[in-house]
Amino acid sequence: SWQPANFVADAVERVREKVGEEGRVICALSGGVDSAVAALIIHRAIGERLTCVFVDNGLLRLGEAEQVIATFREHFHIPLIAVDARDEFLSALENVADPEQKRKIIGEKFIRIFEREARALNGAQFLAQGTLYPDVIESSAPDRKKGVTIKTHHNVGGLPADMQMQLVEPLRYMFKDEVRAAGLELGLPEEWVWRHPFPGPGLAVRIIGPVSWPRLETLRRADAIFLEELRAAGFYRATQQAFAVLLPVQSVGVMGDGRTYADTIAIRAITTEDYMTADWARLPYDLLARVSSRIVNEISGVNRVVYDISSKPPATIEWE
Ligand code: XMP
Repeated sequence: SWQPANFVADAVERVREKVGEEGRVICALSGGVDSAVAALIIHRAIGERLTCVFVDNGLLRLGEAEQVIATFREHFHIPLIAVDARDEFLSALENVADPEQKRKIIGEKFIRIFEREARALNGAQFLAQGTLYPDVIESSAPDRKKGVTIKTHHNVGGLPADMQMQLVEPLRYMFKDEVRAAGLELGLPEEWVWRHPFPGPGLAVRIIGPVSWPRLETLRRADAIFLEELRAAGFYRATQQAFAVLLPVQSVGVMGDGRTYADTIAIRAITTEDYMTADWARLPYDLLARVSSRIVNEISGVNRVVYDISSKPPATIEWE
């Protein structure tokens, strides 16, 4: 019957069969729900023969890196290699404004760092991937999307082709709701289980134009304020994605008796079934007002907040 405990047990058993008594597995954690649940299933199956790798690319949201490390290392006691690659990513992205160029640089950097860590850990014969059942179906029906690469998506998915490791895919027979149920069953914090999707290239595609550390810090703080207020108002679970974007637009403002010329933050919240089409969320005006006044008051260098009222299509969910 459809019971989280049952499909977790099934998935655990399949991992044991695949990996055997001696096999070692390496699993990249992204901070998202899929890779976390995949890691927890594998850990239940083979214990300390799993090593997780978390690459802090500097493009994550406020507190995210710390949370991944604390949850996996301290709470679950799962061996975790945390790589601080912030400088490496930031220098590779210096002066890069083109969205696809950003994605390419970030994807390639990630592979190189992950390979380096995997090699240092010599002896892992298996690479974990959080492939879900819908991904499996989609890639076996290639004509569905043929020729329409609107944006390239760099996840952990489909990466190191020449890595000589076998794949372990504990979520291969699960739908998203089952992954969430499995996560709860395995003790993943509720906040993590219900987390909105976050793109692999992270905040780099939410800073329009070149990425820099000060701009990342501005965006992180604006994003955190928006999400905090959204949660407090009970609208997080009612939206499927919500985030802030830092625009390359300065505008005139007035603060106290001084004139300002400062940055603009766009906030976006959407509702969707499948992320292929989406509508902008009809958030209450008083919530938007709170978010706006907190952002301009708490973040110096920002004097204007706009709400994105575009649906997909014709817009996309992300701005880049
Ligand atoms: P768009 O902007 O195309 O986004 O409407 C649809 C969904 O895909 C996510 N997205 C990405 N995810 N790497 C990812 O892993 C990417 O490069 C990327 N670009 C967009 C986006 O956040 C939304 O959920």
